[in-house]
Amino acid sequence: MFDINKIREDFPILSREVYGKPLVYLDNGATAQKPKMVMEAVEKMYNELNANVHRGVHYLSEESTSLFEEARQTVADYIGAPRKEQIIFTAGATASLNTVVYAWGDKFIERGDNIVISEMEHHSNLVPWQLLVARRGAEIRMLPFDDSGELMTEKLPSLLDERTKVVAVTQASNTLGTRPNLKPIIEMAHRAGAIAVVDGCQGVVHGGVDVEALDCDFYAFSGHKLYAPTGIGVLYGKMELLEAMPPFMGGGDMVDRVSFEKTTFAPVPMKFEAGTANYIGAIGLGAAIKYLRSLDLKAVEEHEQQLMHRATTLLEEIDGLRIYGHAADKSSLVSFNVEGVHHYDMGMILDKLGIAVRTGQHCAEPVMTHYGVTGMCRASFALYNTEEEVELLAKGVRRAVSMLR
Ligand code: ALA
Repeated sequence: MFDINKIREDFPILSREVYGKPLVYLDNGATAQKPKMVMEAVEKMYNELNANVHRGVHYLSEESTSLFEEARQTVADYIGAPRKEQIIFTAGATASLNTVVYAWGDKFIERGDNIVISEMEHHSNLVPWQLLVARRGAEIRMLPFDDSGELMTEKLPSLLDERTKVVAVTQASNTLGTRPNLKPIIEMAHRAGAIAVVDGCQGVVHGGVDVEALDCDFYAFSGHKLYAPTGIGVLYGKMELLEAMPPFMGGGDMVDRVSFEKTTFAPVPMKFEAGTANYIGAIGLGAAIKYLRSLDLKAVEEHEQQLMHRATTLLEEIDGLRIYGHAADKSSLVSFNVEGVHHYDMGMILDKLGIAVRTGQHCAEPVMTHYGVTGMCRASFALYNTEEEVELLAKGVRRAVSMLR
């Protein structure tokens, strides 16, 4: 059963007011709110169980370590990773993608190689690669999208050659909502001898993933968009790739033997988890996944799709409003602008009405360049949003337009 009222009660922040108006939180693409279950898991850790992991023989350390490793298993099961050792806990998706770039990329990318990256990537799946190609003398090739927001997968074969080492693509665009059909992209990448790196930040939230079925080589996401605490993220990788990669950061917990002459490293995943891990964040992520698993995820997806379609219908009725991104398979968000209205002004007026949306470039400036705009407004929906909130958004946009025009 999908009971929206019951779900909303799980998220205390949703009952607060801003400027004397009920909060309408539509900035879930930036970060999602947290259910009580996650906060209780975190609080319990600090109140009853806190101790550093992998470091002590004492009771608390063992308890904390076992919960941390249990969270790793929970994540592995949720994304379909064959082994829990393939789950590396990081600070977030950006840290995950940088780990791939610095650890795998610096070892395997050579002068003259190329990396294919989709035009709709978030900066975190573009800028680290740009830094890498500058270091290595390699090249980036752009896989474009069309004006409706569909990724032009048919152009991929012409971009691939024997020097293509990586195809980097999002599972769901944070700006257009597009969910490209990843399977053929990954198959083409593999046929060309390249690896496929998937940014799952928005995708894992809306629809989930099975990394083994997808056959991607690396998959990255952040916890905070998946109803978990901030500062925790995941990098999944194929075991043979993780084993072939050198560590990215050195420090405690990632070593086997250390001397001044030579250091050997711990096995995967600890090789990539230098320093004290954010074990409480990881346990919070495990709790968020358990919360999601207590819901009917098919009904969640249907509900989120309904919100997106309703928002599209209501917003498109507004004179001069343009929605960016009409992909056939689209996740639950709507990015838009209204002719003659600056996105910041729109965002500020909506804010005064209690409605939180994101404004600006959404860390995806090439998408803005594609449409020749300096920014957009984005309403991004979560499982706890309602049809009434979508109606308030449309009403708010109309009000803003009448004030600003
Ligand atoms: N990447 C986040 C967003 O899309 C912050 O808003």
